Amino acid sequence: MVVNTGIIPSTFRRLDEVRFRFVSHQAIIVLDFGSQYTQLIARRLRELSVYSEVWSPDTPADAIRQRQPVGIILSGGPKSVSEPGAPKCDPRVYELGVPVLGICYGMQLMADALGGRVAPAAQREFGHATVSILGKRDPAKCDDGREARKGVAVADADALFVDVPDEIRVWASHGDFVVAAPSGFAVVATSANAPIAAMSDPRRGLYAILFHPEVVHTERGLEILRNFAFGICGCTGDWTMAAFVDEATARIRRQVGSGRIVCALSGGVDSTVAALILHRAVSEQLTCIFVDNGLLRLNEASQIRKRFERLHLPVVFVDASTLFLDRLTGIVDPETKRKIIGATFIDVFETEAAKLGQVDFLAQGTLYPDVIESVAIVGQSAVIKSHHNVGGLPARMRMQLVEPLRELFKDEVRVVGRELGLDEEFVVRQPFPGPGLAVRILGEVTAERLRLLRLADAIVAEEMRRDSWYARLWQSFAVLLPVQSVGVMGDERTYEYTAAIRAVESRDGMTADWARLPHDLLARVSSRIVNEVKGINRIVYDISSKPPSTIEWE
Ligand code: XMP
Repeated sequence: MVVNTGIIPSTFRRLDEVRFRFVSHQAIIVLDFGSQYTQLIARRLRELSVYSEVWSPDTPADAIRQRQPVGIILSGGPKSVSEPGAPKCDPRVYELGVPVLGICYGMQLMADALGGRVAPAAQREFGHATVSILGKRDPAKCDDGREARKGVAVADADALFVDVPDEIRVWASHGDFVVAAPSGFAVVATSANAPIAAMSDPRRGLYAILFHPEVVHTERGLEILRNFAFGICGCTGDWTMAAFVDEATARIRRQVGSGRIVCALSGGVDSTVAALILHRAVSEQLTCIFVDNGLLRLNEASQIRKRFERLHLPVVFVDASTLFLDRLTGIVDPETKRKIIGATFIDVFETEAAKLGQVDFLAQGTLYPDVIESVAIVGQSAVIKSHHNVGGLPARMRMQLVEPLRELFKDEVRVVGRELGLDEEFVVRQPFPGPGLAVRILGEVTAERLRLLRLADAIVAEEMRRDSWYARLWQSFAVLLPVQSVGVMGDERTYEYTAAIRAVESRDGMTADWARLPHDLLARVSSRIVNEVKGINRIVYDISSKPPSTIEWE
């Protein structure tokens, strides 16, 4: 996510429309056919120190060739290859002389394009399956007289399964399967529901599997990806975060020259890491601006301030909490709240930036998932919450963008953060929304409600940490409801607010399941809040998942 401030690059001319700036690294391109796991493939490869990017499925083969990838992966996808409108790749992709691995839909596509046969399975396979790896095949057996494709090393047909046991449990999710492999392919693995669970034509450097190696439920999945990347594509593992920091630093110096940069800090990990890299690159030319919107958690503003001081970041702190609160007076509609907060941030930021004189660049903590153009995200058109597509800074500010983290996934940003000296507690902290506590106070945001929520929220965080649940959860927090109910405290009748506890497990925030927290933990949170926060006399636990609910209540 961007710096959680509502600044999104839409109104800026990008300096770097060129996709790859890490041309010096070996890269595997993942063509995205819309699977929910596509990004995971790229993340897993990067865990193996292999640089990987997600590209649109219909990218012309020439554009791919220009990039000189060492391998190509065709992702899974929700469609059937025979369905009208099913995404296809340029068939010349198979002839680039670069190894190709088809996964699930990618396998079916490969089979379909090269003369094999794909048919609907009698029963949709979803979940665990057991796959048997067949004996090692001699590539000569599938040699039909063709020369090995130029540039492709001839591996064994079962090169994907080196050091993988003969039988593995895998994660599968498909309605179609390959009935007949294309000519030249050897069948390398089989399962009860799919006679061809893996096939390959090593002479042409083509490999395909029907299951998902990127998913943790697939035993030895990482091994299979490693075999593809290192054994078949010849990767050396040249993508490390230490190297990234050096390269990003050099790149920023080239981009920025002697210009001045302003960086909006949200207090979160992404913008902090971006600022640290910028500071390393062009220390004197950087000014960071931190706007305290008054919607932060208990003591958070002062903690943020201390952290920045410890990191020696040049930060202008602006306490705009009164302005934000004034503008939120009487506002109950969630979207209106978000828009007011976004607009107020821009007003404050612009005023502060103007005080700096001539500023040429605006730095943002944009991450790679925000810039991927793929069917997986293009398909989503409904606006659920405006943070997914908020407007940009006014064009009149005329600054060019610097986005040091544009190539990184969140896990990689954390690694970079550690490299640059951020404390572990901060690096692994749960996400916090840009509009802060305003979207966790249902109804009007007032100073008193903020006070109640801050205290309740701090208790939730403390108890989650005490029982080691904090790190297991995607998010855990309190929500203040505009509902008062009757209670009894000592001999007194109370008529006070209700707080809801929200705790969810999630991989990326797109879907989430409510956490099955132990009753003892819930009981402790409940009794502490009711006893310690005067003004809240009832606690409820939110047991809804996303979808159909969302994580935040607004
Ligand atoms: P929802 O509530 O949409 O949240 O399920 C998904 C993730 O996004 C965070 N979130 C926000 N982040 N500005 C942000 O920067 C926002 O307005 C916003 N709303 C939700 C939320 O905390 C969760 O991690």
